[in-house]
Amino acid sequence: MTSEQREPAVRAAYDIVADTYADEFPSTGPETPIELAMIAHFASLLPAPRRVLDAGCGAGRMLPVLAGLGCEVEGVDLSPGMIRRAQRDHGEFRSQVASLSDLPFSAAEFDGVFSWYSTIHSPDGALPQIFSELRRVLRSDGLVLVGFQTGRGIVDVAPAYRPRGHEVALVRYPRAADEMGEKLAAAGFREVGRLVEAANGAARGGQAVLIATVKSRGVVSFLLLPVVGDG
Ligand SMILES: C[S@@+](CC[C@H](N)C(=O)[O-])C[C@H]1O[C@@H](n2cnc3c(N)ncnc32)[C@H](O)[C@@H]1O
Repeated sequence: MTSEQREPAVRAAYDIVADTYADEFPSTGPETPIELAMIAHFASLLPAPRRVLDAGCGAGRMLPVLAGLGCEVEGVDLSPGMIRRAQRDHGEFRSQVASLSDLPFSAAEFDGVFSWYSTIHSPDGALPQIFSELRRVLRSDGLVLVGFQTGRGIVDVAPAYRPRGHEVALVRYPRAADEMGEKLAAAGFREVGRLVEAANGAARGGQAVLIATVKSRGVVSFLLLPVVGDG
């Protein structure tokens, strides 16, 4: 299935739940302290001027968080409903409707790309195009951060929204951190840090955050000289 075939369903689902999502998650209530620390770490590693794309910004709740960490941030999201709320609630930041698989930016425009639970609705086959697009818009010393649920299989998201009065057709794809790391590596990223959190009983599933750079490891050459003794 191509992104043109798959994305309309994700867009339609988030358009339906946009106001509920924005009202229930106005800020960083769902994030653990160590996840917030990873986000702060990511921001601290970014080369100046720390121009960051919140790729899949949803209703924009992480835009002020990144700005508070010294980033010049703007957002994109597939769902016009989510972007409408981002523009209403966080109008001081630029945000627009766009797909991660076809970003409306020139190459090397950003120092950082922040993908917070925005690849979770994309199957494995869609990730190479998405990661190559995220890489394209990053400078040669830029960094990507990817946050996602760990696990296996396909999870139906519809039951979570039914008690809130929404009927949506939406699934997500949990992955092992190693699998996501391999996908990033295949797209030319080099991992520089990761957080893996185990599930907390039924309350919260496993989560992971990976940070990776575009930059290849520096090549260090050693000149080996023979040591000539005089005895
Ligand atoms: C779980 S929400 C997370 C939103 C936001 N990052 C947050 O933490 O509140 C997932 C978001 O990713 C967006 N999304 C999913 N697939 C996308 C794609 N291919 N391109 C752009 N946005 C996408 C959805 O529209 C949705 O707003």
